[in-house]
Amino acid sequence: MRLGQAVVKEGKALIHLYDLDQALTGGLLEPARLNVFYNPYMTLNRDISVLILRAYIDNVAPHSPVNIVEPMTATGVRAVRYALEAGEGVGKVIASDISEKAVSIASVNVKINNVDDKVKVVRREARSLMYELRWENPKPILYVDIDPFGTPAPYILAALSLVGHRGLLGVTATDLAVLEGSKPKASKRRYLVYNIEKIPSSKEVGVRILLGFIARMAAMLDKSVEPVLAYSHRHYARVFLIVERGSKRSDKMLEDNIGCVKFSEQTGYSLMLRWDECLGAQKTIGPLWVGNLFNRDLLNTVLRLAENEYSYMDTINEIINMIRLILEEEPLQYYIHQRIDALASKARTSMPRRDLLLQYIRDKGYSASRTHFSPVGFRTDAPMNQVLEILRLLSQRHFSK
Ligand SMILES: C[S@@+](CC[C@H](N)C(=O)[O-])C[C@H]1O[C@@H](n2cnc3c(N)ncnc32)[C@H](O)[C@@H]1O
Repeated sequence: MRLGQAVVKEGKALIHLYDLDQALTGGLLEPARLNVFYNPYMTLNRDISVLILRAYIDNVAPHSPVNIVEPMTATGVRAVRYALEAGEGVGKVIASDISEKAVSIASVNVKINNVDDKVKVVRREARSLMYELRWENPKPILYVDIDPFGTPAPYILAALSLVGHRGLLGVTATDLAVLEGSKPKASKRRYLVYNIEKIPSSKEVGVRILLGFIARMAAMLDKSVEPVLAYSHRHYARVFLIVERGSKRSDKMLEDNIGCVKFSEQTGYSLMLRWDECLGAQKTIGPLWVGNLFNRDLLNTVLRLAENEYSYMDTINEIINMIRLILEEEPLQYYIHQRIDALASKARTSMPRRDLLLQYIRDKGYSASRTHFSPVGFRTDAPMNQVLEILRLLSQRHFSK
């Protein structure tokens, strides 16, 4: 992102900000002081969204115009960027916001970027808009992007109602304290889960709670969801899912993918179980999504696109590194990640380097990978008491040298 007088350039879009002057302190932008929200720290979120949308169009919907609804658009930056950057498969984009100021600046941004043939700006409450389009709009909507302040929970049912068969849903959540277990009562209220404490793998737990919530809302509508990418970055979690119709699929989705993380005195919260195995377990976090977080095929396409066609993006190197890391952890995605610092404190040992620990685990015949969720995190199919033993062994070797 490059700051100009009143305009920023992000991706291929020029974006006017509303009352920029009052939000600049010493040349730095303070997003919270803008009348219409624009957060430069979310550029990676928007860059990835462009890439996922383009990969979705290429792999899943190559023949249909992909009509898009972005019901919380603020400056319109996302909607404009989808029209400019996600390829020819993008159909019509409806960009909406409840704020009058947002709608006025989004309209300017649509004009100055010459996308007024594709992007229509309206002023509506997000849920009213989505339900209205669901019932009154003859064109299928194949991508809905929910990007609210804080929790997305109140908007999920309307978004799932609107998105068409095999459509894409993108959801951002910034209420990480709730999703990550620091506010058990709010977790119960918002996401209908027992999220009783913050645990070392809380970033992944938060993403799985969000996915589990979306999946159960989808089931209410006889729909099912299949994650494409679920990640955590800075102060937010972001998930992309493909939504399908059909009650049988929906039943199977619940059966296979809804479960909990179980606590054990010896190894902490380390096992993910399906729901029938959770019943009767003493201490659990859930219900949450225990199925896949990543779709390898689509992410391979994202990586190829990122390496070949989108080098102009400001965050492209960070995205490429992140997707490579995710492709590394994907085969072990059904094992919740662990953190070396937490395990070392449990085993009362010093903390080894991650690559060394992973090597020792592999030498014992198990698989192990890094994870994007934490620089000291890893995934493995080795039982946790084996990992604790390896940690003790490594520590003894270290001290006997
Ligand atoms: C986080 S900002 C959106 C940022 C934008 N999507 C981007 O990428 O820069 C959330 C926006 O949602 C709008 N909003 C809040 N509640 C809403 C509601 N119920 N319906 C529609 N818009 C709403 C706010 O006015 C604000 O502009």
